[in-house]
Amino acid sequence: MIETRALHVAFRGRPALHDVSVQLGAGFTAIIGPSGAGKSTLMRALNGLVPITSGQVLLGGTVLGRPHSRALRAQQLQLGMVFQQFNLVRRLSALDNVLLGRLGVLNPVLGTLGIVPRAERAYALNLLDRVGLADHAWKRADQLSGGQQQRVGVARALAQQPQVILADEPISALDPRSSHEVMSILRDIQEKDGIAVIANLHFLDTVREYAGRVVALKAGQLVFDGQPGQLDRGLIRDLYDHDVPPVLEGSQPQPNLSFVPA
Ligand SMILES: Nc1ncnc2c1ncn2[C@@H]1O[C@H](COP(=O)(O)OP(=O)(O)OP(=O)(O)O)[C@@H](O)[C@H]1O
Ligand SMILES: [Mg+2]
Repeated sequence: MIETRALHVAFRGRPALHDVSVQLGAGFTAIIGPSGAGKSTLMRALNGLVPITSGQVLLGGTVLGRPHSRALRAQQLQLGMVFQQFNLVRRLSALDNVLLGRLGVLNPVLGTLGIVPRAERAYALNLLDRVGLADHAWKRADQLSGGQQQRVGVARALAQQPQVILADEPISALDPRSSHEVMSILRDIQEKDGIAVIANLHFLDTVREYAGRVVALKAGQLVFDGQPGQLDRGLIRDLYDHDVPPVLEGSQPQPNLSFVPA
């Protein structure tokens, strides 16, 4: 579905991604790795937002178009983004934020005129209902809690009807309860709509609970690609250069044990 081939990305000569080849198909994939490993750079490369030094990114077998090209814009519609800081337009309602996700899909003339067909409004309301926010549709984004804002962010990404949702640390700014709400919604979308979800995550217990596959980056290189159950203590220590006790099967997770500091 989306893949990289021998992908290299460097910033002012300093490599951020080095020879990364990975196929990210359907399912829920977590990207993990220490701070600076290149996780966000990979997300942005997948969405055509960083210049590639060499190698390729392919979506559905087609190489991503050049920066600012019409071809790339069409491909970007297939990739819904969810951000750590939500990136909503704060003074707009939740509903209008979701409708922004439809802009690329709507007739551009209507979009420019700010005319939203009734069916589009109903569609966006439906998406807000799906993320449990039907009652908050007309509230300004900046009057919503962080968890609610992120659910609007997910609804906005869904509004594009993407093939893939790319979520860069979608729950890093949220408390545990809101985190689970957002992760459950993402899992539901992946399972019921068949949309692939690729998420950068820092909490390994979240990875174990929600992801079907884990890809680990370290110093810009792909160092692990497997199932969450394979993440043993040695692997985690090598990845983070930090000893993290494993959460024992069947035991209550203990605070911070499975948190990996950024
Ligand atoms: N726009 C940029 N300009 C220059 N250097 C950059 C840029 N973006 C990323 N880098 C560098 O590329 C490397 C990878 O950064 P990246 O943000 O992808 O890491 P990350 O794995 O997402 O880290 P974190 O867990 O802290 O979010 C880092 O050394 C970073 O300083
Ligand atoms: Mg990052």
